[in-house]
Amino acid sequence: MASFVSRALAVSLLALPTALAGSPKSCLNPQLSCHNTTAVSDTCCFNAPGGQLLQTQFWDTSPSTGYSNSWTIHGLWPDRCDGTYDSNCDPSRAYTNITAILESYGKTDLLAYMNSYWVDNTGDNESFWEHEFSKHGTCISTFEPSCYTDYTPQEEVPDFFQKTVDLFKTLDTYTTLANAGIVPSSSATYTSAQIQAAFKKSFGYEVTIQCSSGALDEVWYSFNVKGSVQTGTFVPMSPVGSTSNCPSTGIKYLPKSGSPAPTTSSGASSTSTSSASPTTTSGASPTTSSPTSTPTGGSGTFSGSGYLNAYTNGSQVGCLISSGTWYTSGTCATYTAKASDSGFTLKSSKGSCGISNSLFTCGSGVTPTVFTASNGYLQYSGSSAFYAAAVPSGSTQQKVYTTSESVEISFQWQSV
Ligand SMILES: *[C@@H]1O[C@H](CO)[C@@H](O)[C@H](O)[C@H]1NC(C)=O
Ligand SMILES: *[C@@H]1O[C@H](CO)[C@@H](O)[C@H](O)[C@H]1NC(C)=O
Ligand SMILES: *[C@@H]1O[C@H](CO)[C@@H](O)[C@H](O)[C@H]1NC(C)=O
Ligand SMILES: *[C@@H]1O[C@H](CO)[C@@H](O)[C@H](O)[C@H]1NC(C)=O
Repeated sequence: MASFVSRALAVSLLALPTALAGSPKSCLNPQLSCHNTTAVSDTCCFNAPGGQLLQTQFWDTSPSTGYSNSWTIHGLWPDRCDGTYDSNCDPSRAYTNITAILESYGKTDLLAYMNSYWVDNTGDNESFWEHEFSKHGTCISTFEPSCYTDYTPQEEVPDFFQKTVDLFKTLDTYTTLANAGIVPSSSATYTSAQIQAAFKKSFGYEVTIQCSSGALDEVWYSFNVKGSVQTGTFVPMSPVGSTSNCPSTGIKYLPKSGSPAPTTSSGASSTSTSSASPTTTSGASPTTSSPTSTPTGGSGTFSGSGYLNAYTNGSQVGCLISSGTWYTSGTCATYTAKASDSGFTLKSSKGSCGISNSLFTCGSGVTPTVFTASNGYLQYSGSSAFYAAAVPSGSTQQKVYTTSESVEISFQWQSV
């Protein structure tokens, strides 16, 4: 009788903009998927047989999709623990109205996000989402309708898309690579080892990388899950079975056309912390933490205390450290900006900052330079263009000049 009542309730609510959903079964002391030592019969609280969950991402350049400084979502795939996988597990849930279902659950913000970050390279986002849900989503055991208390038809659909987006937001591939000096370029090439080292550092494990014509175009992050996909804990893991198909050297990472993500958007960002982040980083010291793991505040006015974030080609890549050098893998230095004459002076823990022989430095005995700002960018002598010989990578720092060098950078203030 209970199921009749909840069904009738669901029908009577169809006229409302937001359907009421039941809830996933609660899971007590669940085992970690792919790590059980005995058979687990309750696959509502234990993902099986698809216990290796992959959050997969695209870097599409031909045509380009999404923002020029963000990867886009491919999907969330339940692989078996040996790398093989099931697909199209429930034809009765091969829905052809994903957009309408999400709208019926009031998920308009999620839909807007998906139309920017979960996009199809032919522009048919709805069909792409239908494919991802019917092929992969229907094989995630914890999304089975029977796993919900008071199931409302299709309520696993918003859960699937929301969870995939939430995970994606913790896996900022663009920043992970940029922090290691791996930035889109039509000429530069990278090695598979360099790319994997960047993922090991930010994710804790290697990932599966995919290339097309020698250019990086996909990344698959692997997880095991303790509990359901809806409410459980995602634990980063090494890939199983799935092998990278990129060459070991000469990998291109081609630029995308289009605009960078608006700074106010909540794109995939390494600033978010979640259960997806590796919980331990052995040997972490202040100098090995990522500069972007600090709050990003966009372009602030130069006053009080703040970071000097570096931007190249419209994307943030690291920041300045206290001596005034550019670094992508250290803690940002806190600068103090103080109004002076028609602008402001800058100071770090090393001392005042100034331009001397075209070089930006901070230290004791440095004569303070009066800087100005325009459109949120630091300016010297009326120009917001600064330069370095290269994008810093690993533990290498780069000096910052006001005269032409190969890489042009600009700086924005982030109040802290
Ligand atoms: C883990 O659980 C699954 C699902 O019940 C089962 O098929 C598998 O054999 C179990 N693994 C072990 C080592 O018992
Ligand atoms: C979506 O399609 C299913 C049939 O596949 C239907 O039962 C359901 O009412 C539709 N939902 C919406 C919100 O249109
Ligand atoms: C779907 O994706 C494209 C990118 O391929 C995007 O430009 C478009 O706005 C999206 N469609 C809708 C209906 O928003
Ligand atoms: C910035 O873009 C230009 C042209 O689009 C490219 O030549 C250059 O390599 C890029 N610089 C970096 C640091 O990616």
